[in-house]
Amino acid sequence: MTEAKRLAAEKAIEFVEDGMIVGVGTGSTVAYFIDALARMRHRIEGAVSSSEQSSARLRGHGIEVIDPNNAGRLALYVDGADECDPHKCLIKGGGAALTREKIIAEASDKFVCIIDPSKRVDVLGRFPLPIEVIPMARSLVARAIVAATGAQPVWREGVQTDNGNWILDVHGLSITEPLVLERELNQIPGVVSVGLFARRPADVVIVGGEPPVVL
Ligand code: A5P
Repeated sequence: MTEAKRLAAEKAIEFVEDGMIVGVGTGSTVAYFIDALARMRHRIEGAVSSSEQSSARLRGHGIEVIDPNNAGRLALYVDGADECDPHKCLIKGGGAALTREKIIAEASDKFVCIIDPSKRVDVLGRFPLPIEVIPMARSLVARAIVAATGAQPVWREGVQTDNGNWILDVHGLSITEPLVLERELNQIPGVVSVGLFARRPADVVIVGGEPPVVL
């Protein structure tokens, strides 16, 4: 799947225009995108980054990382996903960067999601749904999730997000109504964000392959 990720990332470069500040996600697929973006670093103004990991890679290529508070609205956001359904709703957060990813997706006019074919599903939920929580609320949120869904939250022990929070991975969901579930889980006190991208799905999905498929 490595080559498929690279091919999806290369295709996404076609969406980058001169003078842009490009929103950049996190993960192994995005790493290929950042490497490809480096080829045109003199033609873009810079990037808004969703993680310390991506910021380091961007800076390593000489691409300026711009504070989202100074960037205004972005024309383009490119990011990977853990799962993608036929409506371009996503599960994200396997790399624990979901909150910043959600903020940049919301701030962007076009969200281009780059995936390998294994990420396509009919119904979201085979990949455990990541939820970022305030540390003191971990147990409370876990109990609320069990009560609301009957699914099994598992603490991703040892992982701290860039925001200093923790991650619960929710196993055993079959997400037939992503928008409803996203809204419901967002209401639980202590939840920072939910790795469901249904309220703000992708606009374009690129599935890596020879040739890449643009949905
Ligand atoms: C990061 O938190 C995630 O949302 C990633 O976008 C997602 O896990 C996809 O990662 P890969 O590109 O490494 O598969």
